[in-house]
Amino acid sequence: MLKTQLTTEQLYEKLKNIKLGGQVCVYSLRKCEELVPIINEINELKEEKNAVILAHSYISPEIIYGVSDFVGDSYKLSRDALTTKATTIVFVAVRFMGETAKILNPEKEVLIPAKLDGCSLADSIDPETVQELRRQYPGYTFICYINTTAHVKALCDITVTSANVYKVVEKVPNDKIYFLPDKFMGQNLKNYADRHGIKKDIKYYSGTCYVHEDYDIEDILKVRLEYPDAKIVSHPECNTKVIDHSDFVGSTEQMLKFMRETPSKQFLMLTECGLSARLQSEFSDKQLVGSCTLCKYMKSNSLQDILRALKDPLPKDRVVLDEQTRLKAFKTIEAMFKYAES
Ligand code: 13P
Ligand code: SF4
Repeated sequence: MLKTQLTTEQLYEKLKNIKLGGQVCVYSLRKCEELVPIINEINELKEEKNAVILAHSYISPEIIYGVSDFVGDSYKLSRDALTTKATTIVFVAVRFMGETAKILNPEKEVLIPAKLDGCSLADSIDPETVQELRRQYPGYTFICYINTTAHVKALCDITVTSANVYKVVEKVPNDKIYFLPDKFMGQNLKNYADRHGIKKDIKYYSGTCYVHEDYDIEDILKVRLEYPDAKIVSHPECNTKVIDHSDFVGSTEQMLKFMRETPSKQFLMLTECGLSARLQSEFSDKQLVGSCTLCKYMKSNSLQDILRALKDPLPKDRVVLDEQTRLKAFKTIEAMFKYAES
């Protein structure tokens, strides 16, 4: 039996200000009352099984505020996965993030409860294509975004996340860089290097995230007209025009930090709705303007699936990696920590 059970009122307090996506993320006291029993059952099982729940900011608010132990962007969650003492990690996000936790923790059980097994960026490139690119671009350092499968990482030299991509590319002692799979991040990286006098030959692949590629400069211009004081905050997976017209660009965790530390009262968030929900829950004095987009992969996580994965995991919930792939992928993440934290 849990020492402290979450009450309906406590949950409602966290969720009451969230109003997004029609009825998708709107919480009444009644809805919280229905959610609380399953939340307490999950929290009880976590204790019993020495498990922790790592949750990306894009997932549904009842998971973030009801059962998660760690919340953040893919970089922070990788660090959390490395430091936790728990023997089971339930990674509530998308497959590549769970795989990253397993790459870092081969001895732990890593479970991914998501119904949909994908991410449009990670799915945009396969190992055969990376092998072909390596033949085409000898002498290049291959840098992969963390949104790639373990098998793709294993064929690259360094992994990066949106929180450290610019810093890592700047520090790598090679002036020939091949970045994959996101073409917008690749273009943004090239523009950043040009603006900062970093003389590197940067090539990149053609993948995109279906959530971020939809944002356009029109979204910004409309908001600037109606809310001239609003700050425009975007993710580096957006296109270059969006990036050039933003007040701040960063990983989801950095976007949240910017909002926390900026005195402005209005924000346009050009990223997935989960971050907007966190803004509504955690900064009640700030207003969200414009609209956001849902990622179907992140939103395919539910409390029911988390409960199932903890109680009686399906074979598809378990992350299993062959040791050779894991070790090669591990080296690329180790290289990221080395460059990002030096
Ligand atoms: P972050 O690492 O910034 O959270 O981004 C992950 C992601 O999938 C964005 O679409
Ligand atoms: Fe992948 Fe885009 Fe969803 Fe992020 S938002 S998990 S990059 S599909």
